[in-house]
Parts: sequence; C-alpha cells; structure tokens
Amino acid sequence: MSTARALPHEAALLHVTGAARYVDDIPVPAGCLHLAFGLSPVAHGTIEALDLAAVRAAPGAVMVITPEMLPHENDVSPSAHDEPLLAEHMVHYVGQPLFAVLAESHGAARRAARLGRSEITERPALLDLDAAIAADARFEEGPRVYTKGDAAAALAGAPHRVSGVMEIGGQEHFYLEGQAALALPLDNGDMLIHSSSQHPTEIQHKVAEALGMPMHAVRVEVRRMGGGFGGKESQGNALAVACAVAARLSGRACKMRYDRDDDMIITGKRHDMRIGYDVGFDALGRIEGLSFVHHLRCGWAQDLSLPVADRAMLHADNAYHLEHVRIESHRMRTNTQSATAFRGFGGPQGMLGIERVMDEIAHALGRDPLDVRRANFYADAPVNRMPAPQAEPEASAAPPPPPPSSPPHGHAAERDLASRGAAGAPEVEPGDDREDGGRPEDSDGARREGAGTQTTPYHMPVTDFMLNRLCADLAERADYHGRRARIARWNADNPLLRRGIALTPVKFGISFTLTHLNQAGALVHVYQDGSVQLNHGGTEMGQGLFTKVAQIAAERFGIGMEAIRVTATDTAKVPNTSATAASSGTDLNGMAVLAACETLCGRIAALLAQLHGCPADDVRFAGGEVIAGNVRHSFAEAVQIAYQARVSLSATGFYSTPGIAWDRIAGKGRPFYYFAYGAAVSEVVIDTLTGENRILRCDIVHDAGASLNPALDIGQIEGGYVQGAGWLTTEELVWDDKGRLTTHAPSTYKIPACSDRPPIFNVTLWDEPNPAATIRRSKAVGEPPLMLGISVLMALSDAAASCGPHYPALDAPATPERIRAAVMRARG
Ligand code: MTE
Ligand code: MOS
Repeated sequence: MSTARALPHEAALLHVTGAARYVDDIPVPAGCLHLAFGLSPVAHGTIEALDLAAVRAAPGAVMVITPEMLPHENDVSPSAHDEPLLAEHMVHYVGQPLFAVLAESHGAARRAARLGRSEITERPALLDLDAAIAADARFEEGPRVYTKGDAAAALAGAPHRVSGVMEIGGQEHFYLEGQAALALPLDNGDMLIHSSSQHPTEIQHKVAEALGMPMHAVRVEVRRMGGGFGGKESQGNALAVACAVAARLSGRACKMRYDRDDDMIITGKRHDMRIGYDVGFDALGRIEGLSFVHHLRCGWAQDLSLPVADRAMLHADNAYHLEHVRIESHRMRTNTQSATAFRGFGGPQGMLGIERVMDEIAHALGRDPLDVRRANFYADAPVNRMPAPQAEPEASAAPPPPPPSSPPHGHAAERDLASRGAAGAPEVEPGDDREDGGRPEDSDGARREGAGTQTTPYHMPVTDFMLNRLCADLAERADYHGRRARIARWNADNPLLRRGIALTPVKFGISFTLTHLNQAGALVHVYQDGSVQLNHGGTEMGQGLFTKVAQIAAERFGIGMEAIRVTATDTAKVPNTSATAASSGTDLNGMAVLAACETLCGRIAALLAQLHGCPADDVRFAGGEVIAGNVRHSFAEAVQIAYQARVSLSATGFYSTPGIAWDRIAGKGRPFYYFAYGAAVSEVVIDTLTGENRILRCDIVHDAGASLNPALDIGQIEGGYVQGAGWLTTEELVWDDKGRLTTHAPSTYKIPACSDRPPIFNVTLWDEPNPAATIRRSKAVGEPPLMLGISVLMALSDAAASCGPHYPALDAPATPERIRAAVMRARG
C-alpha cells in the first residue's frame, strides 16, 4: 500500500460545513469573562498617567488589569525578554497594549477598553528604515556578515557591473481565524489554555512564567488554527498570558480574541526590507562577484527577527552558485509592530534580492533573463533513482540530542525554546568546504558538472540540486520561449496594454537553523477495539499535517484512515515541542509517529510470532490484517490478543534530524538537512496608463520529493503561490507620519481573492524521491511555494521594461502606482 494517496484534508468536511471547532467555538463555563486591551495611541513616549475610571465604570466591565497587578513576569517575548504584556513606563508603538479590561461579553470588553485615557509624553519615533539607520537603532551590536571568496576583488575585476537598491514591503498574515485564547482555572492554581498557536510549548512556558509556576502546572491544547502562516509562532503569547493572569486574578474562565482591526494593529507582520546590491558579471551574465546589504525593519522588540534576518542571508544565493560573495545584514529597531515569522521566514526577501540582480543583469546585456538565470545555476546532482522506501529504520534509531546547555528556565533558555536560530551554542562543524575551483560549462554558459564540490555562501555543499532539469521541464511545459516571442509581438502592436513573462526558481533550505529545535515526539495509543489515537507535537493550521501523519500511521499498521484519530495537540501528551514551523512539521512529527508505530508493531509481531511459531520478521501489517506466517488476524483481533497477553499498546516515538550543525555567527556549517526546489512561469498584463494588472497564466513545477499526499501538496503550492503573489502586488501596508497603521482592515488591505488567481494555473509535482532520508523520501512543502510568487513581480517588471530602454527597477509590492512609475522609468 502506498502512502502517496491524494486524500482530502482530514477535517475538510468540518471546514466546509462550518463544524470545525476553533478556540472561539469552544463552549465556555458559566461566568466566563472576556478580555480586551487598551492600546497606545502614540508610537513612542513616556507614560505619565492612565485614567481608567471610565473603563471600570463601563457597562459589563468587571476588572481592569494594569502592569503592577501582574503577579510575576511581565513578558511575552519569545526571545529577548523585551516585550512586556502591558507597557510599563514607556510605549514603543501605536497599538501597544497598556491595560486589559475584563468584561461580561466580548463587545462590552471592547467598548470599555476604548474609554481608557492615557497621558503620554511623546518622544521622537523611528518609523522607517531611514530614521532607524540615521539613529543607528538596531538589535545586535553591528551588522552580521557572511562571506565566501573575495567579493570586493571580484567586483573590481569584473567586465560589467551594476548596482542598485530594492525596497520590499511587509505583509499581514491575514489568517482567517484571528488570534484567540481561552484560560480555564484548575485545582492548585493550575491552568488549562486553549490557544490558536503554532507553538503550544511556548504558550505553556510563557503562561507558567507569568503565573510563577512550573511548566507542569500549565496544559496547553491546540485543536487547529484557521491559518497561522508564521503569525502564530509568537504572537499568541500575549492573549494566552493575559487570559491566564485574568483567570488567576478573577477565578473565572477568561477568553480573548482580537477583532480584525486590533489584530492588524497589535501583531507583527513580515519584515519589510531594503536590499542594496553590487554585482560584477561577464558578457554571458555569469556573476563574478556580488555584494548584498540587507536592512530589515524589525519593529520595537526582538521577537524572532535575528533568525529571520539570518534566513534572509541564507537565501541570498537562491539557486545560484556564487564564488565571491559578501552579505551584510542590519537588524533595525523601529517604533512599529514587532515584525515576526511569516511563511518563508526572511527567505523570500533574501531571494528577491538575487532575482532582482538576475533581472537587471539580463536587462544590461539584452539577454533573456532565463538564460542569465541558467548560466548561474548550481550544477545538478545526478538523477536520484532511489525508490521511495517503505520504512525508515533511521526513524527509531535517531541519536540522542546533546544535553541542553542551560536549564529550562532563565532567559538564555527561553531564547532557545522559542527562536529558531537567534541563539544557541555555536557548535562549529562545518561541512565539506571544498570550493568549486573550475567552472565547467557548455556553450550556453550553464554549468553541467561540479555538483559534488559547489558550496553556498555559507559554505554548505549543495549536493541535491535539480533546477537545471526542473526548469528545462517547466520551460517546455509552459512553452516559455514560444510565449516570449508571442508576447514581444503583442507588445509591438499594443501601446497601452503590455504583457510580460518570467520564470523564477526557488531553492529553500529545510530545517530550523537553531539546530536543537529539529526534534519531535509522538504518543500513539492502540485501543482494545483496534482503533488508534495519534498524538504528536505538531499543530494543524490548514496545511494538512494531521492528514499526512495519519496516513503514515495507517500505512504502518496496515489499516484504514477511519481507524485513526489524530487528537488535538496537547502539551500533556507530548512535551517540549518545537513550533510547527520551518516547514518541517511532517518531516519531524511524521518520523516521530512512525517510530512509535514501529515500537507497537514490534510488540504485536513478537507476540504473534511466539504464538504461531514464526519469525517476528515474518509478521506483516497489511490490508486491515496482521499476518503471522500462515495465520491471519484482523488488526482488531491481533490487538485483543496483545491486550489479553498484557502487552502495552501505547508507545512514544522520538525523532531528531541527523547531520546538521550550524554556527550562525561565523556563517558556516550545515544549517539544512536538504533543499526543496520549484520554479514558476507567470505571464501578466499591465495597463500602462493606470498600472492595473492581471496574472494571465501560471505554470509551476514543484519538488515535494516522493509526495505523501499529492492533493495536499498541490493545495500548498497553489496557496503559497497566490499568497506570495499577493505580498508582491496588492498587499500594501501603509503607516502615517504618526506611526499609525492606516491599512488595518480588508477595506484598505487587499489580499488576493479567488478571482485574482490565474485563470490558467497548471501545477505539476516533480516526482523524485528526496535523496535525504526523510519520511517516505518526501519533502517539506509548507513555505517554499510562497516564493514561486516572485515570478509575478518579475513578469510585471518584464511588462514595464517593454515600454522603454531603461531598467524599470520595480519594487514590491507592485501596486498600480509603482507599476505606473516603473513604466515611466523604463521610458526615461
Ligand atoms: N498552509 C495553511 N493552509 N495554513 C497555514 O497557516 N502556514 C505555512 C505553511 N502552510 C500555513 C500553511 C507555514 S508558515 C509553515 S512554516 C508551514 O505551513 C507549517 O506547516 P508544516 O511544517 O506542517 O508544513
Ligand atoms: Mo512558518 S513562517 O515557519 O511558521
């Protein structure tokens, strides 16, 4: 039986009928109170006084919580202990919570919160990158720099050279279900929290800290999220902690959900970023030297900004082999929302830099941008003909992780618990560091050999590259060259409507860059009737993790999906989990679940082998049966036999990713277990008078390894592409000169709708098993497809470039205004 079945999402029926339960749907006990925050109206200043009399007197208001009432820690930061739940003394952005009000209803709490009056002495606020750079306001002491070769010398010696700056906007997560939490007080002051969070262990940790209790006193349950996209890695902490503290102070159940406007005003978004570039290249467009300078607008608190900025650096090469490269990264502090994780985690921004460079080189040389891209690709690895194996012995034989360097509490440990690369012991164990000395190539300039020795700018060998093959396949499927010629003819005849096309590749590193986060646990119960309950540390946010993990267990036990129930994620069942993030949910939890299933199958097999006098290796689990030699039992019968024989039918499983080690300070090592690949061709049309635009067609070939579930993977690819296209086109965040976010609702912030997806949308899976020993040789698919959306920006730029001789330098998001300006720039 193959796991590669295009099964629907396990909760699809619940989703579409409205029966799926989210935090706000959980029936609450009598007397449940509802919370709302009162927010700072100014971006930076000293709090002189809060007048909350009207809040307290408001209809339905029960209690107001101010910072001095907090019983223990006033901190909800996932990293640097720099993010108070409620502002003390100072405010750092418009929307920062000042106080919380508890009321009898959600509406009463919100109305009461608005009656708060604050007296704040304003200070100068750093609202944008220019202001932060001028003030040298930053996280970390200086810039982080990764280098390989000698970029300065290579730049000086290159026959051609261009430089420029690209501005990249942020992005609101716009999960359909907003942030939400519910706290239920238990015996002894213990607390049960329901949270819409990608990181239940982090919620447990921060609530325990806020209540002054050990982690064992706090249980966190996450049934599902209505989308997270990175926005629920750390941004749910405030709601959960506020509810827990409120429940402690009031003795009642407490619930909080942000209204959409509050959600957009309070929570962090994708980092917007400025990328300066200076590139030297030869007559074929091959890069000889490249220097990038990244400036990220991190907002007021550190949150996950350091590892996000690292990941931007780690994707500055995207798919291209660079011999001489320097990447400098500045993490700037501003008086705006604290920017956070968002699908791709800085990778998309980093990649955009080099895709812009490819485009600009092609323009400077008058070559097809695809030819320039191909001329710079890493060399492909030999074709991986390895079949997708049926079982991974590695799953149960993972080496134990090194002991933690700090106790589970205390600031250093928190940082480790939460971030994925901001800290951690720099274990230097760089990989094979031979450089690609020669540059074997054929007549079109594309490199064809050297896959064994080529390294990234962070000195990791690239041994699984495949984009030469994948892009050749895509170019043919999409008729790239034929359509480019037709578009040129169309543009020659149409002064007003111009078309453009672009093929862009994605190479995305899979693993948490903070190495120790790459671990997962599972707990599997088999009940007497043969039904199975699965628990693991990952969370379900729509991506289909629970479905894939259930498929893995169903296949191992040889039973149908209906026999498996995946329960809500629960810190009491599987402890010390990492966030479901970095696209590694299935890689990690799938392996942990398989390990637990192996243990259970092993116990049942050993018993039946003994009973029926056959070797344990001859016991098979297939087709709803357990077959021992020539005796066949239904799975339920076999389970009964094991139960009667007093064999344990419950097992844990554990997995840690092998072979990775990374020194983020030196920029050396092997941060990733493997890379996921893909490429997209987008065709667009623009109106040169108004800048209006449409995507006409999209073709994608994406590498999900040996896909566990092609239906879910294609869903991730389509959704990722559209979300990426939205980021780079219509989704524009605008702050006014006081630091107020003016685009805080769908009326002013435009995410793609169904009608914005390309009318022709062809997605093909590149069906080749992962050479790395992942679960069933599949590949992570959560984040990489977002970056396929870069092809839309490049196609829009191509359309603008058709209007005149100059490079249009189209920044993101490519709103109609920016497209119109790019057309004018192209014309000169
Ligand atoms: N897909 C849906 N439908 N909803 C989401 O919130 N989050 C993305 C991606 N795909 C998301 C999604 C992000 S940011 C990540 S890291 C991965 O899913 C996390 O899940 P995985 O590791 O199981 O792929
Ligand atoms: Mo995804 S940004 O790793 O939650």
